[in-house]
Amino acid sequence: MTISRRSFVRLGAAGLLLPAAAGCGVRLGGLSAGNNSAQGSAGSELSSAAPLPAPFTRPLPIPDVLAPVRSDAEGDHYEITQRAAQAELLPGLPTEVWGYNGTFPGPTIVSQRGRPTIVTHRNELPVPVVVHLHGGRTPAEHDGYPTDMILPVGGADHGHQMGGMSATGSRAYVYPMDQPAATLWYHDHRMDFTGPQVYRGLAGFHLVHDDAEDALGLPASDRDIPLMITDRAFAADGSFAYPSVDPSLTGTPGVTAEYMSGVLGDCILVNGAPWPVLEVDAARYRFRLLNASNARRYQLELDPPAPMVQVGSDLGLLAAPVAHERIDIAQAERFDIVIDFSRYAVGDEVTLVNRYGSGGAAYVMRFRVARRAPDGSRIPQRLADVRLLTPSDTMVRRSFVFARGGAEAHGMTLWTVNDQPFDPAFSHADPRLGSVELWRVRALNVEHPFHIHLAQFQVLGKGGQGPGRFDGGWKDTVNLDNGDHADLLVRFDGHRGRYVLHCHNLEHEDMMMMANFDVV
Ligand code: C2O
Ligand code: CU
Ligand code: CU
Repeated sequence: MTISRRSFVRLGAAGLLLPAAAGCGVRLGGLSAGNNSAQGSAGSELSSAAPLPAPFTRPLPIPDVLAPVRSDAEGDHYEITQRAAQAELLPGLPTEVWGYNGTFPGPTIVSQRGRPTIVTHRNELPVPVVVHLHGGRTPAEHDGYPTDMILPVGGADHGHQMGGMSATGSRAYVYPMDQPAATLWYHDHRMDFTGPQVYRGLAGFHLVHDDAEDALGLPASDRDIPLMITDRAFAADGSFAYPSVDPSLTGTPGVTAEYMSGVLGDCILVNGAPWPVLEVDAARYRFRLLNASNARRYQLELDPPAPMVQVGSDLGLLAAPVAHERIDIAQAERFDIVIDFSRYAVGDEVTLVNRYGSGGAAYVMRFRVARRAPDGSRIPQRLADVRLLTPSDTMVRRSFVFARGGAEAHGMTLWTVNDQPFDPAFSHADPRLGSVELWRVRALNVEHPFHIHLAQFQVLGKGGQGPGRFDGGWKDTVNLDNGDHADLLVRFDGHRGRYVLHCHNLEHEDMMMMANFDVV
């Protein structure tokens, strides 16, 4: 780290911190900035200027599973090129996406537990990138630390002044995958620019399978479908609308002042398609729900109502299934659910709605029950051995406050952790490898989804009570409502080294709400 993060804050902040009077002209190709923050989400909603398609007309795309380029004693080797491409997200109006292999979402990687997965990323984008496997138990040098960048092929040098261990053109990430079956995802993690780079499309699924899960008889193969839910707004020319201070993403980071709390779009996409429709058999399906939105939180419900049976959380199977009538899903959380469509008649339509949204954001996608079909799947009453951690007097306790404040420049206040803006040179904690610690994390000003790399946690309690309905199982992300706190039993396993924790509202993350910890 050649330049201290703090001096960068001072330099970079100038662009973030337009005084309100100068910042009033938010113009994004005719977009109007509605300041209506959706219920349960921090942020301001952008309205699309491009015509949006009628809902439930586009078929649900299912991202391709990436084939390894080779498999050998080291593991399975994959290659991904990050590049710009034109995608038809809106009918007849192309959108430039920045995608893994040019697609949004990126291709799905499927790993078998314990079999190393080596992914070589080549950067043909005009900006530095960082790849993070969210939920991966990954050695620090492969975790996608925000300054460990891959500079563009051909050596454009933006970003090298940030320090870190940058590669030029391409690099390999080595993932041991020594962890249970789970729904992970990979996404960009570039310092200060994660929000806009994920928004342009840099996100994909990475699934882990293992024998124990395969033996359960849960719905599988074409009845096991990942659903990446995102919200976006589109400019009149079809491009993604995002209120970057510098849309080239090569200079000043951050968003214009009125989006400081988060960027919300008015169009909900699932696997990259606006409000898609999926034809299903009258049978059980497993859906791997991922909220990959920057700032939007959803409350998902089926209409007409039917149970969504949760079988897995962020980091793998629950001990036993839990039926939900509705599911609150914060950014980066995963819920693996089973829906049994045999309760419906052929021809029925079932809509997945968002009770926290209004207008177009109140709808997510639709299922159309197309035919009767045999179903050999089951949902066993015992899914996995999830041993409950218990607190002890000897545990190390730490506390983290996620709030706006503690650092400011030019009259605007940044998002911070324990009053500190992110500084790659400063570490907040040094948990011991193999230990469990008791952490209290608290959210102020607005809600903040807390996320920690490497470690896994169980929610001991929230707001002075037991865990909430959506906090079950092993997790890496948990939502914190404004003013709320959670007590987490956090297990540090697998690797030593420096990792980050942060708010997974990506605008907050980019505007300094991130902190280091060192596993020692
Ligand atoms: Cu999904 Cu550090 O991120
Ligand atoms: Cu992560
Ligand atoms: Cu936050």
